[in-house]
Parts: sequence; C-alpha cells; structure tokens
Amino acid sequence: MSADAGALERAVSGVEEPELRLPLGEAGLVREVRSRWGRTTVSIGLLHPDHPQLGELRRRAEAALAGAGARDAQVDLVPLGEEEAAALARRLRERSAAPAGAGPDGAPVAPLGHEQGRGNPFTRQGSRTRVLGISSGKGGVGKSSVTVNLAVALAARGASVAVLDADVYGFSVPRMLGLNRAPLVVGDLLIPPVAHGVACISMGFFVDDDTPIIWRGPMLHKALEQFLADTWWGEVDFLVIDMPPGTGDVALSMAQYLPRSEVYVVTTPQTAAQRVAARSALAARKLKLPVRGVVENMSYFRGDDGRRYELFGRGGGAALAAQLGVPLLGTMPLLPAVGEGGDAGVPVGVSDPEGEAAQAFAALADAIRALGPARVYRSELRLS
Ligand SMILES: Nc1ncnc2c1ncn2[C@@H]1O[C@H](COP(=O)(O)OP(=O)(O)O)[C@@H](O)[C@H]1O
Ligand SMILES: [Mg+2]
Repeated sequence: MSADAGALERAVSGVEEPELRLPLGEAGLVREVRSRWGRTTVSIGLLHPDHPQLGELRRRAEAALAGAGARDAQVDLVPLGEEEAAALARRLRERSAAPAGAGPDGAPVAPLGHEQGRGNPFTRQGSRTRVLGISSGKGGVGKSSVTVNLAVALAARGASVAVLDADVYGFSVPRMLGLNRAPLVVGDLLIPPVAHGVACISMGFFVDDDTPIIWRGPMLHKALEQFLADTWWGEVDFLVIDMPPGTGDVALSMAQYLPRSEVYVVTTPQTAAQRVAARSALAARKLKLPVRGVVENMSYFRGDDGRRYELFGRGGGAALAAQLGVPLLGTMPLLPAVGEGGDAGVPVGVSDPEGEAAQAFAALADAIRALGPARVYRSELRLS
C-alpha cells in the first residue's frame, strides 16, 4: 500500500531545516513530492552545496517520510540556485522584518537600514524574543562562560536560543561552543551555525584568530548592525549577548540597536570586582536598559572532601545585588570542568548535565525564565 501524496508532503513540510531551524514547508524548500508505482521521491532545496548538516537533514526527511508510511522513499537534496537563494533570503527577511519606525512600545527605533528592507528582528512589534545582555565591568570574570553555559541550559530546557558574541575584540563564543565553521551565506543573509542547540554569530567567524581587530567605533557599529540585520536569527525565545567588558562604544551601539535588552551583570566574590561591575550596571541604567540581576561566578570551589572553599572571598555578588536593588540570580562554582568544557567546545551542560556546574547554570536559566520579560522598556535613547 502506498501512502497518500498529501500526507507525505505534509510530513516532509514539517521537517525542521537544521541550520535554519524552520520547517522546510515554511522555508519553501519542498520542491516536489512524487509517488509513483509505490515509490516515493522527494526533492528538497539545499541551502548550500556544502551544507554542514546534509546528513542530518536527509535523516530527518527519511524519518518523517517513513513515519507517514512511505517505504524506501528517495530523498534528493538539490542545492539552491542563485535566484532561489536570493528569493529565500527575501522570504526570510520578510518574516523577521520590523515595520519601519516601530519599537516594542510603538516608539521610534534606530532605522537599521529599513530603507533597504533590512529589518532588525528584535525590535519587531510582538517579537517574542527576550534579549539578555550579559555584561561585566572587566574581562576574566567569566562573562563568556556564563553566556555560553546559560544559552546551552536554556536550549536544554526546550527554548530556542541564539548567541550574539558582541565582544568583538575578545570573541570566544565559537570556541566555547565548539564551532569552527563560518555561517552559510544564502542570498544576502548569514545563517548562523548551530551547536548544542545554540545558534551563534561572532566576529570570530570573519577574522583570523591571530589578527588583532583595530577598528574605530563606527566600523564596529556597522559590523554589529550587520550581525543583527543581515543574519537569519529565526524566531528565537532568547538572544543571549556576550557584551564587551566595560562601557565603551560597542555597549552603546548595542543599547541603540537592541532597546529591549535586559542586562545581567557578572561579577566575582571580590569586593574590588564588585565595584567595577557596578560601573557597567550604572552605565546600562544610564542607557535606560533594565538591569535584571547579578550572577556571581567563581563563587566557591568544591574540594574532593566535599567542602566548599571560597577562594576569592565572599559576598561580592550579594553586595552588588543589594547596591543595585536587583536579585542575585546565582552563584556559580569554580570548577575545572567549566574551563575545560570551554576549551573543548563541549559545555558542561552537554558533557555532564547532572554535575554541580551544569546544575548551577540550569538553576540560573530557571531563575531568568521565572523573572519573565522586563515590563518597562525605555522608549527612546537619550544620551544627555
Ligand atoms: N566557573 C568557572 N569555573 C572554572 N573556570 C572558569 C569559570 N568561569 C570562567 N572560567 C575560566 O576563566 C577564564 C575566563 O573566563 P571567560 O568566560 O573567558 O571570562 P570573560 O568572558 O569575562 O573574559 C576562562 O579560561 C574560563 O574557562
Ligand atoms: Mg569573554
């Protein structure tokens, strides 16, 4: 008995394209479904001849077809031609475009190239994405580690998650996620690579590791604009941003482009670190971005004897939270597994989800979800 063609088409249309993270049907990538003499042939548009997840796409399509009753279906993956790729990019842009000039509260937003039909999806009215800016006063406190492990924990809880590595000078997110391939380019859109359920865009994909980036503010501003407007981010629940340390140009650009950012401040238990962290929190407030909470990293080390050792003093996170009048959302243990996971590109949430570090990041993810989106967004950017 052969399955009916309509059912097969529905099954294949529902398959999620692994790089786009969008059903093939919605992406318009199902070219043909044919059933003849009991044999089914399906033709699917392939984003790129060197599709990094070609095998995964084929496996998903075959499984869906088998589930719909087709035996030995033949799945043809046919790379998109130039025109088709451009058309797909246009469709994707339409999906995520912001109506020009409309911010989340109806207020005007930075134009971000709307004239050319390029929209920043995160200012779109009704966007469901929570933008979480992970910030710190200085480098080395674990901002990137918190960004990556939080993103992985959110994804593990079923959320759809992307990371923007906005630490343009000190990018480290691709390495921490184990991503060593550049985004696919479809038409004029970047498709971010995905690892551990997290899509990522980073300056690291576009420059050599050992070439220093010496750019002036306007160039960085432009690069970030492109990352936001020329990337297919999908309809993610969370965009987690690894903010550059301190309070420079990039932080300013981010505030302008992402007026709905919620800011989370990472600090260590030392009081000195707390003071620097406070500065970045106050800068965020000056930009009218809501500071939602504090994360204390490297809070304690758990010895083999099971005891907690507070290597870097104590209380910095709680004191900062009190100073800012926001909750302390988590205290992350200092554990070799966190550093090793970052070096290996396999975060603790993947390598050892039941371990103490992974559990701490999972609890942080829950705390952030429990906070819910910020209710009051600033309606305009004032820099005076
Ligand atoms: N909780 C932790 N346990 C162990 N090592 C950590 C932890 N947090 C960060 N590290 C390590 O500390 C170093 C700095 O962390 P990183 O996340 O790169 O900081 P930042 O982004 O603030 O500069 C990295 O080598 C990282 O692996
Ligand atoms: Mg970093």
